[in-house]
Parts: sequence; C-alpha cells; structure tokens
Amino acid sequence: MKIEKLSLAGFAGFLDYLNDHLSDNGHSDTAYFQPLPRTESRFPVEKAEAFISGMQIEVGQPGWRRAWVMREDDDSIAGHIDLRGHPERYTGHRCLLGMGVDRKHRGQGLGKQLIAHAEQWVLLAGVQWVDLQVLSVNAPAIHLYQSCGYRQTGEIPNMFHIDGKYFSYTSMTKRLR
Ligand SMILES: CC(C)(COP(=O)(O)OP(=O)(O)OC[C@H]1O[C@@H](n2cnc3c(N)ncnc32)[C@H](O)[C@@H]1OP(=O)(O)O)[C@@H](O)C(=O)NCCC(=O)NCCS
Repeated sequence: MKIEKLSLAGFAGFLDYLNDHLSDNGHSDTAYFQPLPRTESRFPVEKAEAFISGMQIEVGQPGWRRAWVMREDDDSIAGHIDLRGHPERYTGHRCLLGMGVDRKHRGQGLGKQLIAHAEQWVLLAGVQWVDLQVLSVNAPAIHLYQSCGYRQTGEIPNMFHIDGKYFSYTSMTKRLR
C-alpha cells in the first residue's frame, strides 16, 4: 500500500471508487456517513467539477482542495482523504477534512495512516487547524477521529431528516500548530 497525491489524470478512477464507496452509505450494517438518502448516495456532478477545480486552486484561496489516495499494489484505491478550505472568508488558517476507507480494508489502521499523512501536509502548508463534521451516528469515524486527537466542538441535534430518520451532526477539530 502506498499513499499518493490525487492527480487530475487519476480523477476519473477516483470518482468510480468514490461512487462505489458512497453506495455503502446507510447500507446493511454500515452507519450513514454522508447526509444523503440511500437513493442519492453518489457524488453529485457539480461537486465533482468543484473538486477538480479546487485541486488547481492555491492553498488558502477560496475553493482550494487537495486529496490523497491509498493504493494497493494493483493500483486499486483502498482509501482516500481530502482537505479543503472553509467557504467563509478569513479562514485560510483552517481546513476541512473528509475521508473514507474501502469496505474491504476497514479496521486495519488505514484510516489512521491517511490522517497522519494529511496532517504532515497540513503542517508543511502552514495551515493551523483541521476541522471536520461527522454524522453523530457514525461511531467508527468518531472513534477514529478521537483516537487521532480530534475533540468535539459541538453537535447540532437532528440536523438532517433523511430516509425517514433524523441525524445529528457533530463538529470536531484539532490544532496542529
Ligand atoms: C471511518 C473509517 C474511515 C475508519 O477507517 P479505518 O481504516 O477502518 O480505521 P482504522 O482501522 O485506522 O481505526 C482507527 C481507530 O478507529 C477504531 N475503529 C475503526 N472502526 C471501528 C468500528 N467499526 N467501531 C469502533 N471503532 C472503530 C479502531 O479500533 C481504531 O481505534 P484505536 O486507535 O483506539 O485502536 C471507515 O470505517 C470508513 O471508511 N467508513 C465509511 C466512510 C466514513 O465514515 N467516512 C468518514 C465520514 S466523516
């Protein structure tokens, strides 16, 4: 397994992986991990376009985004992590984290490795804080983030009403510098 920065050339393959990953959202014994109904658990086209353009925007400028993938020896993607700027102005010292690990590879420490890799990049990029939001029902993710030193900063009860159920939204953060 190796972690590499996602390139523009690799984006189409990444999107295939991501859509397969999102098909797990709320499926079977996997908790909902994205605020999307089961029938819409795909990466929206407009978000894919914003993702691609964000990869080309200088860090700290509005809309910037960077992503890394963990690849197996056969080049298939086993997990990913991405960082992006907040939409609000004057927040260039912070970023938002998103991630996932393919269903075949969960519980083997890949999530922790991806976070450690992204945090190294954050330090070099001069960004001070990493923030994230997670559905409160997503116990595996909250456990991973706590284990990596993220602390809860708040929770919005019943933020989403999806597939007939209410979901609370937890905010977490970590100061790196
Ligand atoms: C959340 C997710 C990224 C975790 O990745 P992972 O590679 O399985 O996590 P790791 O193996 O590195 O485990 C890290 C820690 O989380 C814990 N953990 C992992 N899965 C867990 C589970 N199902 N239940 C409880 N704890 C769990 C591990 O025990 C470990 O804790 P430790 O440091 O105290 O030993 C993965 O389950 C996933 O992709 N889920 C679906 C997508 C998702 O939730 N993305 C995040 C959206 S905010």
